[in-house]
This record gives sequence, structure tokens and C-alpha cells, in this order.
Amino acid sequence: MGASRATAQPSLTDTETYKSAAAQAAADLVDDGARVGLGTGSTVAYLLPALAERGLRLRCVATSPATARIARELGLVVEELDDLGRLDIAIDGADQIDPAGWLVKGGGAAHTREKIVARAAERCVVIASAEKVVPALWPPVPLEILRFAARTTLAQIGDAALRDVPPSPDGNLIADYTGPVADPRALAQRLATTPGVVEHGLFEPDLVDDILIAGPAGVEHRKL
Ligand code: 5RP
Repeated sequence: MGASRATAQPSLTDTETYKSAAAQAAADLVDDGARVGLGTGSTVAYLLPALAERGLRLRCVATSPATARIARELGLVVEELDDLGRLDIAIDGADQIDPAGWLVKGGGAAHTREKIVARAAERCVVIASAEKVVPALWPPVPLEILRFAARTTLAQIGDAALRDVPPSPDGNLIADYTGPVADPRALAQRLATTPGVVEHGLFEPDLVDDILIAGPAGVEHRKL
């Protein structure tokens, strides 16, 4: 029984292989001269060397200090989004992907910058290993909240708690909503209109153009 369950689950090595495959497929979508938004996380960690290896002339925007540092170490040019204005493509990971294309993001606490970058891109590509695909979204949904009256903000949300991580690079606190996520649009609306919430980790399907899901059968390319 235990053995058969173990064989049904992807091993850690499989998962890393899938992340790498999705990242490589996304790197191949980037054109020479492109302005590129770089996400954050362990899947994006495979994207950065794959992009650098292509030797293209790129102008990149990073969604976190960690991504900026690694990208620069690999020789990628990282600039400010305000200096580039629009991006041709943004590539980022996800924590959950539902059948309609709703995402939960922010496991790495970078969802605010990631959402700004996704919205600034002509084409937003999500890369993930197959276990990120879920039949329905579930908690936690990451939050970035203002320090001012943070406990009051969390109480107004209900079912929410601070995450024990450093503040965001923009000086805000990271928290998680832990209540039900039955209706992502309604929840996104409620979180977005709660004073003190800087940004929530629900990404609506309108933000996303392509989803590359890598699993045992290869890389599936979904267009939204
Ligand atoms: C960071 C994110 C990441 O994209 C998300 O957490 C997925 O990360 P990983 O690729 O490590 O599974 O939203 O804020």
C-alpha cells in the first residue's frame, strides 16, 4: 500500500526535472531584443540560466532582489520597470493553477511585484511542474499588508495570520489568508478592497496568456 502510493507521487527529482523542462520551454519563447519580466522562485531559478545561455540581447526586470542578483550574476541586464515601461514577456511560477487559469502566487512573498510585472507584460507565461495543477484553489492565499494597523487589517479579513518571514523589499508585512477559496473572483474582490491589503496572491486568468505545465508526458502548453 505504502509502496504503491509512493510510486504514484512524483519524486523530488522528478519535480525538479519538470520545473527545469517548463523553464526551458519558456526560455525558448523569448525573442532577441525582448524586454523580459523575471518572476521569483525555484522554477524561475531554472529559467534564469536557460535564458542566459541563449545569449540574446535582453533587457530584464526582476520581481525580487534574489532574482535580480542571480540574473546579474548570469550576465543578464536587469533594469527598473519604470525605465522600460512595457515588457514584451513576463515569465513566472505559481503555487496553484486551477482549471480556469486562476493562480495562487506569493509562496515566495513576491506576489505584489510579480502582479505589477505580469500586468506590464504583453505576454505573461506561467511555468510550473504538474503538481501545481489543482481541481480547485485552496488556502493559504498570500497577502502583503501595510505595517500600519496590521493586526486590525488581519482581523477585518478574518482567517488570516502573519507569516514568519522578513518584510517585503517594499517594507510591508507578509501574511496568509487561510479561509475558504470557493469563489476566487469574490475573494479577490474582497481582499483587494480591504484597507491595508497592499496586494493578494490571487491572479485572475486575464493576467495570464500561456501556462507551461511539465510532467511525465512532457510540457503541455495551455493558451488562455
Ligand atoms: C513567488 C511566487 C512563486 O512563483 C511561487 O511561489 C512558485 O514558486 P516555486 O517555483 O518555487 O514553486 O509566487 O512569490
